[in-house]
Amino acid sequence: MSSPRPVRLGIVGAGLMGRELVSVCGRWDLLIDHPVRPEVVAVADPAPAAREWFERVASVETLTDDWRRVVDDESLDAIYIAVPHHLHEEMYVAAAQAGRNFLAEKPFGIDLPAAEHIVAAIDAGSSFVRVSSEFPFYPGALRAYDYARSGALGDILDVRSGFWHSSDLNRAKSINWKRRVETCGEIGVMGDLGLHVAHVPLRLGWQPTSVFGRLDDVVNERPGPDGQMVVCDTWDNAMLVCDTTPSDGNRDFTMLWETRRIAPGHMNTWFFVATGMDGGVRFSTRTPAHFTRFAVESGEQVWANVQPGNISAWPTVSGGIFEFGFGDALLQMWASYLAEQVGELGDRFGTATPAEALAAHRVFAAGLRSQRSGVPQTP
Ligand SMILES: NC(=O)c1ccc[n+]([C@@H]2O[C@H](COP(=O)([O-])OP(=O)(O)OC[C@H]3O[C@@H](n4cnc5c(N)ncnc54)[C@H](O)[C@@H]3O)[C@@H](O)[C@H]2O)c1
Repeated sequence: MSSPRPVRLGIVGAGLMGRELVSVCGRWDLLIDHPVRPEVVAVADPAPAAREWFERVASVETLTDDWRRVVDDESLDAIYIAVPHHLHEEMYVAAAQAGRNFLAEKPFGIDLPAAEHIVAAIDAGSSFVRVSSEFPFYPGALRAYDYARSGALGDILDVRSGFWHSSDLNRAKSINWKRRVETCGEIGVMGDLGLHVAHVPLRLGWQPTSVFGRLDDVVNERPGPDGQMVVCDTWDNAMLVCDTTPSDGNRDFTMLWETRRIAPGHMNTWFFVATGMDGGVRFSTRTPAHFTRFAVESGEQVWANVQPGNISAWPTVSGGIFEFGFGDALLQMWASYLAEQVGELGDRFGTATPAEALAAHRVFAAGLRSQRSGVPQTP
């Protein structure tokens, strides 16, 4: 194996997810024989405190308050844009027009028209773009995906794909941009958590054809910066009941996409369940060490508990018996994005595509219309 090619990364948005990327790069030696080696060399954020962290922890060449300096920097091999949702459209379109390769954050625009505009700009240019979605990189999730893709389920009966938080259970938690329509989007929790739920079903070719949305706005106000209560107008929880047509020509089935910021007892639970006439599969990040698989064996109905071990898409120096976690999923996703960019993904799982993000947006928009009209809507 030749030595990995150095990759110069820029970050726009030095918040929670921007910092996660620095940590991913710091752990890159965990990977065995990856074709590239990334380094964060430029960061843009208007908030001095956000930039200060990068100054202290990561010695980057360029620290700026102007995102255009990073987007226009031709020395960068790729950029990561991780900003509030109302800024996605302008920045993603500018990056595409500048010919930059970038990993975008979900939901890929604040609403469906923004997502359509972004995809049109990407299609008109030559940028390599993918959208962040790390949970399918858990070994158990990858195995569940492979099992579903193999056709072992037979005629599918139903599918549940969900992401549950309890992050908003505390009514005294302060407001932030993720809890305002203006900055998070009218789709609320679906914009925040929805692509995570959509990615695996869409990759399996399970396309919603009709969406019945039940959305719930539980907490209507939260403390503002000065402690005074201010309006909190985003949907907290969303349940989308989707009539679904699989691309393999088999019969239609019902699929639930569940996104909840208020799911008591769940810190960060991503799950995928699919059952069919011949087989079934379940995976949850709540029990990351195993996934379960259903089959009829000698006339008996058996749910087998399978431990896949720490066997990820991109091999690591970590022992196969050691536990896999959120940071590992992010590392695997970045390994996938950067390898795909240089044409070395092979048959490994790739992170979400702009087309998948757009398809997800169509389903969220249909869910919103359905909530208003009370009847199912076509995405
Ligand atoms: N993949 C995941 O698991 C995951 C998790 C959390 C958030 N996200 C997504 O990542 C994105 C960012 O979320 P976050 O949690 O990091 O938010 P954050 O609030 O922690 O960080 C956002 C940063 O963007 C900066 N910013 C604001 N205006 C800017 C501008 N004009 N130019 C450059 N930077 C600007 C802010 O100052 C802030 O530092 C969102 O799209 C969110 O949905 C993804």
